[in-house]
Amino acid sequence: MSGNIAPLIQSFQQYAESFAEPGKELAFAHRLKLEHTMEVLDFAENIMAREKITDPRQIFTGQLTALFHDLARFRQYRQYRTFRDNAEFNHGHQAADMLEKEHWLDSVPADIREAVIAAVRIHNARELPDDLPAFALFPARLVRDADKLSIYHVVLDYFQHREAYQKDPAVSLELPETPEIDRALIARIRQGKSGDYRQLTSVNSFLINLFSWVYDLNFTASCRMAAEQNIYPQIRKLLPPDDELDELCCLACQHAENAVKKL
Ligand SMILES: [Fe+2]
Repeated sequence: MSGNIAPLIQSFQQYAESFAEPGKELAFAHRLKLEHTMEVLDFAENIMAREKITDPRQIFTGQLTALFHDLARFRQYRQYRTFRDNAEFNHGHQAADMLEKEHWLDSVPADIREAVIAAVRIHNARELPDDLPAFALFPARLVRDADKLSIYHVVLDYFQHREAYQKDPAVSLELPETPEIDRALIARIRQGKSGDYRQLTSVNSFLINLFSWVYDLNFTASCRMAAEQNIYPQIRKLLPPDDELDELCCLACQHAENAVKKL
């Protein structure tokens, strides 16, 4: 039996829109999260279609995880006016708690509900925990890929329409635009590691770290989409001329394209 995602999309959209102040449009930051969520759902569905996943229960689990992964972002922004997680507010944990305690998944079979909640809880962890139950592995991997693909779009859009974003500090990068290039970060990425977010202290480092995400993509279809969308050359263009960065970009493109060839 497959679940019907349409009414849940509608409830989610109504919930997001309810954060608009009376008589006003939804705040830019909230609108961005709503659009990001719909894009993550779209990417998740696209990845599943390309991976030829046909089990309706698996598809429904993937759709639900994508739809609800950032559920807590709306409260987070209203309360803190930022999307930076801190000790009190981890948006993955908060969204999972909301799904457990509120009505969202009442109509969903218990085993699917459990998988969705477990995957949402850790979707933003640096790495998937070793003790993640096997039933949550697929939706967790799926939503992490779809999230990365959408964040690539958001970042590229940010640099193309900065005036709009900079109206609200919550959605700007809040990082200094210094010219230095972090060689240690490049070396880490060449070893297939990513940078710690706390160490990404400039716009350049933030952008350089985006190359590392290619090594973290779980599905061949996700690599294919990153390659088709020309993501890495576009990121490269946002950084200064530098041989090591050219090479890093080439390695990311090769990695994505090699995955594509295996299809
Ligand atoms: Fe997200």
